[in-house]
Amino acid sequence: MCSIIGYLGINPAAPIIVKGLKRMEYRGYDSVGVATFSDNQIVVRKGVGKVIEVNNQAKLDQLAGNIGIGHTRWATHGMVTDVNAHPHPSSAGEVAIVHNGIIDNYDELKKNLQQKGYTFKSQTDSEVIANLLQYHHDKTKDKKKSILETVNHLKGNYAFVAVFEDGTLAAARMHEPLILGIGKDGYFISSDVLGFVEHTDEVIYLDNKEFVMIDSRGIKIFDFDGNPIQHQITKVSKEFADVYKGEFAHFTLKEISEQPKTIANAANNTKLELDLAADFVKHARSLYITGSGTSYNAALIAKFLFSRFAKIKVEPVISSEVQFSPDMFEPQSILIAISQSGESADVLEAVKFAKNAGSKIISIVNIMTSSLVQQSAISIGLNCGPEIGVAATKSFTSQLAVLYKIVDKICGGCIGLEFDNISESIKKILSDDSKIQEIAKKFKDVSDIYVLGRGIHYPIASEASLKLKELTYIHAEGLPGGELKHGPLALMDSNSYVIIINPNDSTYNDTLTSAREIKARGAKVIGISDKPSDAYDFWIEIPAINEALYPFIEIVPIQLLAYYAALEKDADPDYPRNLAKSVTVK
Ligand code: G6P
Repeated sequence: MCSIIGYLGINPAAPIIVKGLKRMEYRGYDSVGVATFSDNQIVVRKGVGKVIEVNNQAKLDQLAGNIGIGHTRWATHGMVTDVNAHPHPSSAGEVAIVHNGIIDNYDELKKNLQQKGYTFKSQTDSEVIANLLQYHHDKTKDKKKSILETVNHLKGNYAFVAVFEDGTLAAARMHEPLILGIGKDGYFISSDVLGFVEHTDEVIYLDNKEFVMIDSRGIKIFDFDGNPIQHQITKVSKEFADVYKGEFAHFTLKEISEQPKTIANAANNTKLELDLAADFVKHARSLYITGSGTSYNAALIAKFLFSRFAKIKVEPVISSEVQFSPDMFEPQSILIAISQSGESADVLEAVKFAKNAGSKIISIVNIMTSSLVQQSAISIGLNCGPEIGVAATKSFTSQLAVLYKIVDKICGGCIGLEFDNISESIKKILSDDSKIQEIAKKFKDVSDIYVLGRGIHYPIASEASLKLKELTYIHAEGLPGGELKHGPLALMDSNSYVIIINPNDSTYNDTLTSAREIKARGAKVIGISDKPSDAYDFWIEIPAINEALYPFIEIVPIQLLAYYAALEKDADPDYPRNLAKSVTVK
């Protein structure tokens, strides 16, 4: 989703900003822009495309000046066009802004400003911030007052950075992340630590309803009533600096390959939080679990674990659906919110509903400085390091590790967790992926892939189909095995590919029967199993393991398959089209 960055310091701003935007590319975007202040004026350059493309064309990094702002846009209001790209200057050009989020009342504000003679070039909601700042500055001739007036008129979720014509930077936060970096050579302000972590690890996390003003004399932070605020400077984890691909061709492959280590890291999580979470869950009046995308698929796995091993009923709810059942939660219930980023707007919204109803929140999250952590009574870290590939891989198996640990704690170790064994099994799969690469070649011209699994393997089938969709743009669908005869069998013919998740457990025989039924209709069957069978046209072998633990290892070959198929289709596995890593708008 959109990334914003601002810099004010002793170095040329534009190269720092462009590099910061490149580091934040993983968040997903469609256009790029930079504005700098130099020679008493603000100059804006922007365009549609990747940072490198727009930079080659518009020479963003050659803009002069030591003060500037930058943005990668993920379109919400208005098409993907050069004009709609940020930064947006005010009509008088005395202030320019970059914005992340959505201004709900932009239409009304825009009409008002137009009546007063302020003009607009774009179709975005964001441009209204520039003209509103300009309008209040024209009225008050005071930057602080103009920011205060502006934030008090804006409705919605936003983080913006503005550069004024005297070289002052200002930034405000309302339910979108905004982090201030305090470097030796200057100040940074960004939606993501990765925007500036190579320059400084000293940061201030702005709270909601706060704004900061930065000039050559230093920084001043205020709340939305204009009161000065003091913040502690905190140091960010060194791990954040680990955002290089190393020997790997793509972040996605690197992150898939890290799983033997990251699962172990998640499993070694702080005992205290796990104990607390287990205790909360045991005493909850009712238990809900939520997430979006991959994190929701982890929630579906949790449902099986809780009921089978802890004998506790848990209701999984898709985060974006919660607002349509607002009465679901009750006092003394617990909502477990799962999110890699901790910034997904849908998850935060679900949390808001639950808290308003008097429920407590346990979050399972990778970014421990995120908004979700701030909203939670207990937060358990995934501990898997930054995940840059837009499609979640290592964060998924780390989420599983934490969920398994909580359930295992509640049932007194009944699962028989063997994390070393899981890691070793995954290493075996990773050590020879030549067969997976061969199968990926077949997906080049395939239009539909089905993934079938029963019981706990059905959520894995859903996660597998999500990976295939995200990375290969092929239509993929997860099917519960028993439902095959209730519809999907009609789709099977010689053009269909079906991946069968069939480890040697209680689902094995039924799923093998499904494989035979599919094969009898001419479809190609790819079996993922520890047991070979003549029902499979292609067999991807996984090691045998304690049957409760199969989900950890059976997803790995499918992550690889999706990755290699993306390469076959010339799709960028790290940055799939139209998608964003952190979906911070609803
Ligand atoms: C986006 C990403 C998905 C991810 C989902 C939830 O849609 O493209 O890969 O699963 O957000 O993200 P979260 O950070 O909340 O886990």
